[in-house]
Amino acid sequence: LIPTISTLPDLRAWRQQAFKEDKSVGVVPTMGALHEGHLDLVRHSLRANPLTVLTLFVNPTQFAPHEDLSSYPRTLPRDLELLETLLRSEYPGKEMDKLVVWTPSRETMYPLSSLPAPASGSTGETMLQDVNKQRGAFVEVKGWGDVLEGASRPQFFRGVATVCTKLFNAVQPDHAYFGQKDIQQALLLKIMLKDLLTAYPTTDNLHIVPTTRDTSDHLALSSRNAYLTEAERPYAPTLHRALSQVRSSLTSYSSSTSTPTTAESAIQAARDFIETASAEASNSSNVSIKYDYIEVFDKVTFEPIRGELQGREAVVAGAIWVGKTRLIDNLLIGWD
Ligand code: PAJ
Repeated sequence: LIPTISTLPDLRAWRQQAFKEDKSVGVVPTMGALHEGHLDLVRHSLRANPLTVLTLFVNPTQFAPHEDLSSYPRTLPRDLELLETLLRSEYPGKEMDKLVVWTPSRETMYPLSSLPAPASGSTGETMLQDVNKQRGAFVEVKGWGDVLEGASRPQFFRGVATVCTKLFNAVQPDHAYFGQKDIQQALLLKIMLKDLLTAYPTTDNLHIVPTTRDTSDHLALSSRNAYLTEAERPYAPTLHRALSQVRSSLTSYSSSTSTPTTAESAIQAARDFIETASAEASNSSNVSIKYDYIEVFDKVTFEPIRGELQGREAVVAGAIWVGKTRLIDNLLIGWD
């Protein structure tokens, strides 16, 4: 069985032992409901480090009060089974202790949240979700956390940066593994580690692992795909198709067209593509697709790119709603 640790003292003792034995530790932060995408991160860490910690915590501060915190899938027994199967198949005959799962409680991650607030007397999870009621230490990456995904979800990256800082402080990992699926999250955390002069891990030791996709239609795997109905599922890859069009029109213009595509025109064409798909989905299957945003931005500054790409290292990212599910995806342009 995969060892699980729940308390902070137990985790610290485990980490001290790893320091003593001079074994490098990789961390894979997750909110559970594991799928192949998470497992690929674990595989990367297992390959590069003698020890890996998968952290599993559904972080309330990154969910706005109207978002899906209470309905977010929680499948711990199944998550542990998936990890066990992975270890047995890739490290047969080996001990299970290359990998530990840390499942901290809300009180461990937010020790101040159980103290009653002087003004309202309220405590707990809903208080953590409400930026106006939060108290204690929070980490913001100003200028990087308020654009793109952050513009659609204003408290999201503050919650992510805060919880990841806490996870890094607790685990003190040599290496950390994040998915390209959430590219703004991974790049913002790299910036945060650099700006906070963090040693465990350093900014260079935060690794971005390529997005794991459905092999037949390239839909990016996500815990939230579980929300899609059977009728909605075939329309979910619409976003990936739109983003692929943006990438190819920005990178490969044919010799017959004398003017290279601008980011604006590529984004508009992708938006039109989504609106057309939306009309088709609504007419033939009564499925609702809504465009949220598509943006092409510089990978370092997150500055939106306008005009021609001119060889810059960029990301094209976007979000759509399929029914009640918000899906995100992105592709790298000019680097990977
Ligand atoms: P979660 O959505 O559970 O994702 C955990 C990690 O898995 C993230 O680094 C995410 O980018 C990666 N991931 C998800 N789908 C993937 C896919 N299809 N391919 C590759 N990697 C994928 O992201 C979070 O949790 C939270 O914000 C967290 C960082 C844990 C902080 O609470």
